[in-house]
Amino acid sequence: MVAIESLPEMTEAEVAAHAEKDSLWCIIDGVVYDLTKFADEHPGGDQVLVEQAGRDATEPFNDVGHSADAKEMAKEYAIGRLKATPGAAKAPAAQSKPAAAGGCGASFKDIMTSPTWTNFLIPTAVGILVFVLYKGVQRLL
Ligand code: HEM
Repeated sequence: MVAIESLPEMTEAEVAAHAEKDSLWCIIDGVVYDLTKFADEHPGGDQVLVEQAGRDATEPFNDVGHSADAKEMAKEYAIGRLKATPGAAKAPAAQSKPAAAGGCGASFKDIMTSPTWTNFLIPTAVGILVFVLYKGVQRLL
């Protein structure tokens, strides 16, 4: 596996030229991936990858909440780094959303959909439910 930093720089236009199943590149977090061979093995199916072919797939990739294993697996397919083009809306540095006025930067939607939130909230809710059920059963006995 090659270190990301040593990969060649590529432009969005170069990536956009590989927008089909037979030549399927996409950008995730400023790194260019050649997913042509991976598409058939992708646990989420090839269709979702074809939809993102030739584009910046950072948002859909993160929205799925891919596991650490998936992120590790991705490194195998990295072929380049996105060249920061001035003014390009999708350049990695320009991707962070502007801070909400007076807020800390994360919108309510960001917080509600963040994996940290669901990873914390769901187990806590299940824990409370089990505790309440346990206490209820104890009272019956
Ligand atoms: C380098 C790129 C990618 C790799 C290595 C990868 C890998 C994986 C892996 C290992 C899984 C199984 C679940 C997990 O471990 O998280 C998965 C599921 C999935 N992936 Fe990807 N993925 C990639 C890109 C994408 C992209 C660009 C999309 C676009 C939407 C996508 C959509 C999905 C979906 C919808 C699932 C199924 C989730 C589910 O059934 O719960 N993936 N992917």
